[in-house]
Amino acid sequence: AAVKKYQFNVQVKNVSRLCNAKPIVTVNGMFPGPTIYAREGDQVLINVTNSAQYNMSIHWHGLKQFRNGWADGPAYITQCPIKPSNSYTYAFNITGQRGTLWWHAHILWLRATVYGAIVIMPETPAPFPFPQPHQETNIILGEWWNSDVETLVNQANQLGLPPPSSDAHTINGKPGPLFPCSEKHTFAMEVESGKTYLLRIINAALNDELFFAVAGHTMTVVEIDAVYTKPFTTRAILIAPGQTTNVLVKADQTPDRYFMAAKPFMDAPVPVDNKTVTAIFQYKGIPTTILPKLPTSLPASNDTKFALDYASKLKSLNTAQFPANVPLKVDRHMFYTIGLGKNPCPSCQNDTKISASLNNITFVMPKVGLLQAHYFNTSGVFKTDFPDRPPKSFNYTGAPLTANLATSLGTRLSKVAFNTTVELVLQDTNLLTVESHPFHLHGYNFFVVGTGVGNFDPAKDPAKFNLVDPPERNTVGVPTGGWTAIRFRADNPGVWFMHCHLELHTMWGLKMAFVVEDGKSPEQKVLPPPSDLPPC
Ligand code: C2O
Repeated sequence: AAVKKYQFNVQVKNVSRLCNAKPIVTVNGMFPGPTIYAREGDQVLINVTNSAQYNMSIHWHGLKQFRNGWADGPAYITQCPIKPSNSYTYAFNITGQRGTLWWHAHILWLRATVYGAIVIMPETPAPFPFPQPHQETNIILGEWWNSDVETLVNQANQLGLPPPSSDAHTINGKPGPLFPCSEKHTFAMEVESGKTYLLRIINAALNDELFFAVAGHTMTVVEIDAVYTKPFTTRAILIAPGQTTNVLVKADQTPDRYFMAAKPFMDAPVPVDNKTVTAIFQYKGIPTTILPKLPTSLPASNDTKFALDYASKLKSLNTAQFPANVPLKVDRHMFYTIGLGKNPCPSCQNDTKISASLNNITFVMPKVGLLQAHYFNTSGVFKTDFPDRPPKSFNYTGAPLTANLATSLGTRLSKVAFNTTVELVLQDTNLLTVESHPFHLHGYNFFVVGTGVGNFDPAKDPAKFNLVDPPERNTVGVPTGGWTAIRFRADNPGVWFMHCHLELHTMWGLKMAFVVEDGKSPEQKVLPPPSDLPPC
């Protein structure tokens, strides 16, 4: 095992896209930011120095940070922000994880431009459990706004409205030639006939689940969220914000220039966003003047059937070397409804603002870090009375509920005893509107044991759960008007954020946190905080 050191200078840089230049917050002046390379077993030290005018914090999305929430990054959950001109070193070990993950700012909407890939090579000797690719490349999907994102968000919040959707999607920071002035902002990868390539695909978009395809080629999915899967071949993938997907693509078609493309999956009655980002899959020797071929394999924006079929194909590899250790006995059952309600807002345009909620509770961000408050037993910062069930039962996905849309506000956490096995059913509701929500749990991977459309039926659905080889991941899409059941063992003590990874919904309060208590032995307790932890 090695020690990998990185220096992250958070700094503002002028970047131009779509015929328009603007200052953006970057790491080391790069957009997207630098890739973190490490090997399973390594220690990683990342010194973040904040030379921008915003408070900053960075989250290493999908790294478990065992006993070490201090390095997890979500502002006011596990740390106070790194103030301008200050620095903090994120120090963590990578144990038992290998694959593609990513990092992003975890404060305000700064992850719009502050993000990058994390590539963890398997511990030697434990090569990929699939044919060794000839080469690999990161494909980071993102979004671009022509205006300053923080300004747009602030203006929208004052009116109680959602901010405008982005002006383009991007692949590795580039919108591709279908957008104006973007010929030179096009990502291209060169391939040789007959060779196989590993694409490490990351959805860093703020608010869109995306389909991705390579024109003329199929892809073989081999890993999701840094966990190996049973390989399967597909014409397109679906990837939600927060998720990562590794695919193998063989350059086995007529040598030519092909588009790789991504566009949003939108099956809910929400604003339509049909922007397609393209990049180029370029066979060696083909002149770059030739117009690429568009993918016909991308599903339609509202192709719910493709989305459900795709999700059903994801299975853990589950071999002796990489077993799926699904908790078979559940100590604690939780059921959380996802809703978008409305609360009074006298200064807002319609006198109301949208408040998103879990079990009708809209999470209120604290002013100090929750992990500190937990570790030092500071009272008055949060309560641990988050309910395991919604306040009342109703027809979750039936007729729209228009009465009583008010939510209750609070910094309420759910306390879980060390090593408890938890089953959590996330249930979408028709409160305001059904919609798909990608849920991310910090500090853990979980098993997606079941999913379905409509209301979860506790009498019938558990019998259909996959307890053998369910997909293991850190972010899961709860289907529009449906439910998803996840299981995990609470063996990582600390305070762990759980939220919808659509930034708009997180901002509206679709979030909560678990306090996982210490176990009895010293190696089951939260580590002491590092001495340079940013003060509150
Ligand atoms: Cu990638 Cu709390 O998020």
